[in-house]
Amino acid sequence: MKILDETSRTLNEYLLVPNLTTEDCTPGNVDLSAPLVRHRLGEQSPIRIAVPLVSAIMGAVSSPRMTISLAQCGGFGFIHHNQPITAQAEMVSNVKQHKAGFRHSDINIKPTATLGEVAGLLQAAERDIAAVTDDGTPHGTFLGLISTRDFHPKRHDLNDSVESRMQPAKSLVVADPSISLSHANAMIWDHRLDVLPVVADTGRLESIVLRRDYELHKTFRNETIDSDKRFRVGAGVNTHDYQERIPALIRAGADVLCIDSSDGYSVWQRNTLQYVKGEFGDQTPIGAGNVVDGRAFRYLADAGADFIKVGIGGGSICITRDQKGIGRGQASALIDVVAERDAYAKETGIYIPICCDGGLLSDYHMAIAFALGTDFIMLGRYFARFTESPTKLVRVNGQLFKEYWGEGSQRARNWSRYDQGGEQHLVFEEGVDGYVPYAGSLYDTVTMTIAKLKATMISCGSTTLRAFHENAVLVPVSHQSYLQNTAEIQLRDRPSDPGQ
Ligand code: IMP
Repeated sequence: MKILDETSRTLNEYLLVPNLTTEDCTPGNVDLSAPLVRHRLGEQSPIRIAVPLVSAIMGAVSSPRMTISLAQCGGFGFIHHNQPITAQAEMVSNVKQHKAGFRHSDINIKPTATLGEVAGLLQAAERDIAAVTDDGTPHGTFLGLISTRDFHPKRHDLNDSVESRMQPAKSLVVADPSISLSHANAMIWDHRLDVLPVVADTGRLESIVLRRDYELHKTFRNETIDSDKRFRVGAGVNTHDYQERIPALIRAGADVLCIDSSDGYSVWQRNTLQYVKGEFGDQTPIGAGNVVDGRAFRYLADAGADFIKVGIGGGSICITRDQKGIGRGQASALIDVVAERDAYAKETGIYIPICCDGGLLSDYHMAIAFALGTDFIMLGRYFARFTESPTKLVRVNGQLFKEYWGEGSQRARNWSRYDQGGEQHLVFEEGVDGYVPYAGSLYDTVTMTIAKLKATMISCGSTTLRAFHENAVLVPVSHQSYLQNTAEIQLRDRPSDPGQ
């Protein structure tokens, strides 16, 4: 037996002491970009992300829509693997069909469908416009557009056909597939369009260009895209069916894989990593985890992991610590793994990024995690709250919530993540099933989170994440310090802050 000479500490137990802020410390100068995968020291990682936030590998979080929205902001998403291989590969290929600026039309309907059907489709997808094609597919013959502005349930008969209220193709401005993105955007402004359909000579719908995407590009600028300008996408895999799942995901276009397990310090992860390296070399990077100490980091690093996730038991929906008594406070885990990452880099010349996963309850916890040295951050609850997450928006006692459940809950029954000793089903739960307060659109809250992170870095006199980590001065917080911030002040009513 060995007892570590430390107390397990969470991110909540630290504060940053400001450093000198100099003239160059302005929001415009702060660079939040981060390496996603292993690289030689002194060289750039082959995949970097402009915004170091990635979505959790969870059915309640990472849909194609979430992944595309996140890539638009400069982040990265992982499609979950708790589904049949073909379904996951289809989701990956769905994302890869979207070129930045030119979207694959994902809400489509036949002209013979009813207004009631299109209303249901738009409501379920939380969208306001659909393409009308002859066969209701994304690349059918383009016949028109129908939006929530074209009909109203109180004014029009919902049994009427879509055709009766759609804006027919002949009345719309459309573009040829050879058009460049800048020309397409110019057409959007010249003709005051919200949507520009791109239609081939044959009449088939190729893609759509949205005014909203133009605005997002101007806000975020650094989308996460590949050399063909397609959005990048990740995919979760497991240590059970990897020999079938991984080739299918690579064929579908996955840019990065990640072995998803609540406890990654296992020979099964080593075998999976060695399979990928043996079959595919460095073609598709693969991350591993989760770990909470330096020993486990080194084991997975030696086995070939391209990044390593840190965190056991800290997730908002997690009950692993109660059920199994394993885990470690996220701050303690990060401090140990970061030290091992840096020692490994010094010894081998190879830098393996780490990802802080789970238990980040507030934006400032992200700042503490970066100060402690994580390269990027994986979030579940944070993203589950947004319109773009795949779960239902529900009203509970008059307030809006989104559903959110753990992969170890009975609802997800993800036995491949929670290997409970060879049983191919969950014997006991390691996660809960619940709701999180609805927080509107991802784009607005991510913008605010970025602003807060930059402000913290500026206070700490740093313009890059590396400098922020190297210069950080942290102090553990006493219980009395918490109490000081809870002085009794009756707050004035105001709209709720979606960032919290
Ligand atoms: P959150 O950001 O605090 O909500 O944590 C999300 C992380 O929790 C995920 O990325 C997983 O690592 C982890 N996780 C997902 N489902 C479960 C579960 O059912 N039990 C424990 N941890 C989970």
